[in-house]
Amino acid sequence: MNKAEFTTAAGFAILLLFHMTQTEVCPPSCNCTSLGEMKGLQIDCSSRKLKEVPALPVNTKKLYLQNNSLTTVPPGALDGLLSLEEVKIFDNPWNCDCHILYLKLWLEDTSESSLANVRCATPAPVRMKPLRQLTGNELGICKRLLPIKSLEFFWRDLILIAVAITTLILVAWALKFSKKLVYQINVRQYDFSGPLLQRYSFKNRKLQ
Ligand SMILES: *[C@@H]1O[C@H](CO)[C@@H](O)[C@H](O)[C@H]1NC(C)=O
Ligand SMILES: *[C@@H]1O[C@H](CO)[C@@H](O)[C@H](O)[C@H]1NC(C)=O
Repeated sequence: MNKAEFTTAAGFAILLLFHMTQTEVCPPSCNCTSLGEMKGLQIDCSSRKLKEVPALPVNTKKLYLQNNSLTTVPPGALDGLLSLEEVKIFDNPWNCDCHILYLKLWLEDTSESSLANVRCATPAPVRMKPLRQLTGNELGICKRLLPIKSLEFFWRDLILIAVAITTLILVAWALKFSKKLVYQINVRQYDFSGPLLQRYSFKNRKLQ
């Protein structure tokens, strides 16, 4: 085994260990009861003001997540629950944008009956609408590139505006400066021509 292979194997082992310890324990905020040896767990996380789905044990058989503050479920978060038989996930303020698609599909596969009473809270057009009835149009498309692109546009516009303002200031300054210059030239011309003219007319008068 070379060094790279060893590092990969060690990393994998640590990951596996972490994964196992993470998914074998009862979530700290929930009430877990054993349904008997080898029969799995009942995990009651209901009415706990949860904002995120906690890490769940793999042998979860009954999962209660109703009456919380869940808005979304990260993709893949519930994929490991292979022995699940019952799930309650209603009474949550679901945000039904494109990211809710994972929960919709997972519930369609896992429990049609619990999908029936899941309703959206946001965005406004789909408020109180059952998640099951949502169409692709209403869910929208996940435009992951859009925020980056609009940010690029934002910076480009900001630079253009800055350049425009600087140009305006420079033009204004140049105009002011040139006016001053013209004025100074005029004054100097007057200073020169004034006495000369006077002397000339004086001379002329004397000659007359
Ligand atoms: C946990 O669940 C058990 C069995 O359902 C119940 O008797 C107990 O009161 C629950 N504890 C809490 C804190 O909800
Ligand atoms: C929902 O949860 C809140 C606490 O977060 C609790 O006060 C309320 O009684 C619960 N409602 C139901 C219907 O269980």
